[in-house]
Amino acid sequence: MSLLELENVDSYYGESHILRDVSMSVEEGEVCSLLGRNGAGKTTTLRSISAAHPPDVRDGTIRFKGEDVTDLSTEDVSARGISLVPEERRVFPNLTVAENIRLPEVARNRSNTWGRSVNLSAKGMSTEQVYEEFPRLDERRDQKAGTLSGGEQQMLAIARALRQSTDLLMLDEPYEGLAPKIIENVEAAVERIADQGTTILLVEQNAAAAINISDRAYVIDQGQIVFDGTAEELRDDEETRERYLGV
Ligand SMILES: Nc1ncnc2c1ncn2[C@@H]1O[C@H](COP(=O)(O)OP(=O)(O)O)[C@@H](O)[C@H]1O
Ligand SMILES: [Mg+2]
Repeated sequence: MSLLELENVDSYYGESHILRDVSMSVEEGEVCSLLGRNGAGKTTTLRSISAAHPPDVRDGTIRFKGEDVTDLSTEDVSARGISLVPEERRVFPNLTVAENIRLPEVARNRSNTWGRSVNLSAKGMSTEQVYEEFPRLDERRDQKAGTLSGGEQQMLAIARALRQSTDLLMLDEPYEGLAPKIIENVEAAVERIADQGTTILLVEQNAAAAINISDRAYVIDQGQIVFDGTAEELRDDEETRERYLGV
């Protein structure tokens, strides 16, 4: 059984039909990439999985650990162990690094009052584990998040996601806007997280960088999966790379 399975998923923004018959799977323990040009449907796929609205999934099935999660709420999907770090790396610029990292806890305490569930079970990383994992954040605990570099903000966004119990970490264009040297740092962090057993679904336009750390890859174009294979197969498939990825 795959950790995550999408079977013939069709997603819409209003009447705009975006994802067409998307089927893909992510196996436990792997780094799987979903690659494609701007506007191909990558973010829409991640938002469909995490039950963000929009888009609406009108057809098909999304399964996580064998359970049909297609119609669950975002909170329930997150409680099952799926974390999404969105494209915009939402950190709170006026809060310090430490405050940003403590936020899930604050949210949990509030959730008791509001009756909402924020998933911080035993499997989520403790703040100290997070600082061990991201020494750069440790050095900058008291710095306002808004003053961090793009790469450091990305790490902070990932660190925050890992404070929740995460079996599947979905990263939406973590390398966007980062210099090559910084990409290497984020790449190394993602690899360490993967080595510790967290399954990763990595969405990128930067196919070359993503292929580097992936076991398998899918390519999406105009809302349809057009390639599915190992990272090595994609590396060797010049036609697919040129046609859909421009590399
Ligand atoms: N909120 C929205 N409303 C309507 N159309 C959208 C919305 N978000 C994205 N789209 C459209 O859906 C398609 C896929 O977008 P997206 O999944 O964001 O692409 P990617 O993440 O691969 O760049 C694009 O044609 C985009 O214009
Ligand atoms: Mg996107």
